[in-house]
Amino acid sequence: MARRKYVVGNWKMNGLTAALGEAQAIFAAAGENKGVDVALCPPFTLIGPMISAAPGAAVGGQDCHAAASGAFTGSVAAPMLADIGASLVIVGHSERREGFGESDADVKAKAGAALAAGLSVILCVGEPREVRESGGAADYVLAQIAGSLPGDFDPARLAIAYEPIWAIGTGLVPTVGDVAAMHGAIRAKLGEQAGGSAAGTMRILYGGSVNAENAAELLGAGDVDGALVGGASLTAGKFVPIIEAAAAL
Ligand code: PGA
Repeated sequence: MARRKYVVGNWKMNGLTAALGEAQAIFAAAGENKGVDVALCPPFTLIGPMISAAPGAAVGGQDCHAAASGAFTGSVAAPMLADIGASLVIVGHSERREGFGESDADVKAKAGAALAAGLSVILCVGEPREVRESGGAADYVLAQIAGSLPGDFDPARLAIAYEPIWAIGTGLVPTVGDVAAMHGAIRAKLGEQAGGSAAGTMRILYGGSVNAENAAELLGAGDVDGALVGGASLTAGKFVPIIEAAAAL
């Protein structure tokens, strides 16, 4: 069966309650484009209010702790996300790996905790600029997958997001050929690690400066099953055209 396109907005540390109207407009448009799965990952503070404002919508976290509870001041556990109605969580975003020192082992533990709590996972990988320039991007990304993919999981509940760090928030994007080549390499690696049938089911999203203008081309590239969108997911005006581009493919 063909993989359904998946368009996910990562609001990062943006959004007050006044932004809930944008989420409602985004999920209303998602309802008009039923062939595409749409989710939003707002800051923790908005997850509950967003679910109340858009009942039934797929809303998730941007991170979770690997433990189910405990003395971890400031952290949020996966069962807490599930408890308030979140259905997914992003783990391993480069802003967490770089800014908070998260290793592949940390990301693997978080992904495992999220799956155990019943959440779907978007597991992020991606190379820094100097690695891309030195020609080592594929090796770097495949090593991240080897180190951060949980051992045993339901492939329908785990998506990979390939986000070259140098493309995040910069307006720079790899060529469509480079994106397709990386996604193909990731799918082959998933096949090695999880088996061919799991790899055929798993969705691989591209992230990094996706916008209304480049979405159709990027989403149409080989082995690209959707997009993880930061800046352009904050308003319906910018995000809905990306959902529509995915629906048109
Ligand atoms: P961007 O962010 O779309 O603003 O580049 C993507 C991301 O970090 O997930």
